[in-house]
Amino acid sequence: MKKKKLLAIFGTRPEAIKLAPIIEAARTSSVLDCAVAVTGQHREMLDQVNDLFGINPDYDLNVFARKQTLNKLVSRIIDGLDVVFDDCQPDAVVVQGDTTSAVAGAIAAFYRGIPVIHAEAGLRSYNLLSPFPEEANRKLASQLAVLHLAPTMFNKRNLLREAIEESTIVVTGNTVIDALFMTLERKVAFSDERLNRLEHSGRRIVTVTTHRRENHGEKMSGIARAISEIARAEPQTEFVLPLHLNPEVRDRIIPEIEGLINVTVTAPLNYAEFTKLLNLSTAVLTDSGGVQEEAPSLGIPVLVMRSNTERPEGIVAGTVKLVGTVTEDIVRETRAILNDESLYTAMATSANPYGDGRAAERSIAAIEKLFGIGDGAAEFDSWDPNEDELRQAASLIER
Ligand code: UD1
Ligand code: UDP
Repeated sequence: MKKKKLLAIFGTRPEAIKLAPIIEAARTSSVLDCAVAVTGQHREMLDQVNDLFGINPDYDLNVFARKQTLNKLVSRIIDGLDVVFDDCQPDAVVVQGDTTSAVAGAIAAFYRGIPVIHAEAGLRSYNLLSPFPEEANRKLASQLAVLHLAPTMFNKRNLLREAIEESTIVVTGNTVIDALFMTLERKVAFSDERLNRLEHSGRRIVTVTTHRRENHGEKMSGIARAISEIARAEPQTEFVLPLHLNPEVRDRIIPEIEGLINVTVTAPLNYAEFTKLLNLSTAVLTDSGGVQEEAPSLGIPVLVMRSNTERPEGIVAGTVKLVGTVTEDIVRETRAILNDESLYTAMATSANPYGDGRAAERSIAAIEKLFGIGDGAAEFDSWDPNEDELRQAASLIER
């Protein structure tokens, strides 16, 4: 039988990390042939991941440009993908998550009559403006997909509420946990000598990442002031910021923390080095989606610097707390977990609400079933809230 052609389309760091396990698993499938098209929405940060996982894209739209508008990005991706589809002739495409590359990939495929598979489907904050534009992107992708790979039962329930046909949803776990497990096995040294020294100093490390578009501007300065204040108040603790390359982020953060001896700003770390840093950390301050999912697996408390989250599972599991973006709140909550041992211990329990490392295997089984091959796989067994818990979850995702 001729193999079915699957085309993975992605453009940013987190999509690359989360699709890598699916691409790897597809390559061992006897019925799938998997091609890769990168949009180049990110450049260095995307290439870093592809290099690590040994992914050599078959197509690269190379749309990267500093400070281009979302509309420009979408139009260039859609235009570029038309040419890719002519050459590749995919039987289906897989897009991941809620980025511009994901939604543009879904629209481009849909307009060409190519079935869309959506990985990491069903995450919702129920606020169209936060995260912006991701909440809209993922809702649009859900409308276009024929197969929804939902990480958790909670995500599946969000889709069912939107009248997505149940038979098209499969609960797989999040492939980020597969990627995390695959990557932690690599024993790497930091390429930044300062991090090697920190690792061997035995000092307490807090890792910080921030980049969310709705936190740009004054909120980002407030986050930076919070880091500065905490670093001054906690001189025994080292703060490491692998900073996103976006100048909107760098220009707000760097001036506030320059000169602080217990703060280390680095370039974005490759995924192997970043997961190693996470593993060495006492706590994480972040507005990242992926980091919220990874840290619970490692038993690292996470303080989420956002006013909402689409990921209540980590909060329910007890390892994640939503602290918002107000400087004083970030300072108070961070100092609390650094100084209150019982609070810290309660949060530092390892939990795997987002996956068990087998999400790619389940995704491939679901994709093969879509093509009429096999029966699919048993779903990932995740937290399945009842009506009361669902109502409670609605209050957990907003601060
Ligand atoms: C994008 C996604 C966001 C995701 C994030 C992951 C959208 C709308 N947003 O946001 O959902 O959480 O990626 O990091 O799709 N830059 C570089 N080199 C790189 C990458 C970025 O210089 O390799 C700089 C450029 O100046 C670029 C800017 O960062 O203009 C912003 O990149 P962009 O992809 O527009 O948005 P992100 O904030 O990264
Ligand atoms: N990450 C990385 N290097 C870094 C910072 C983060 O590899 O310097 C990884 C992190 O482990 C997670 C992913 O990037 O898997 C998250 O990406 P990001 O925070 O940019 O996007 P989001 O998840 O918020 O969409």
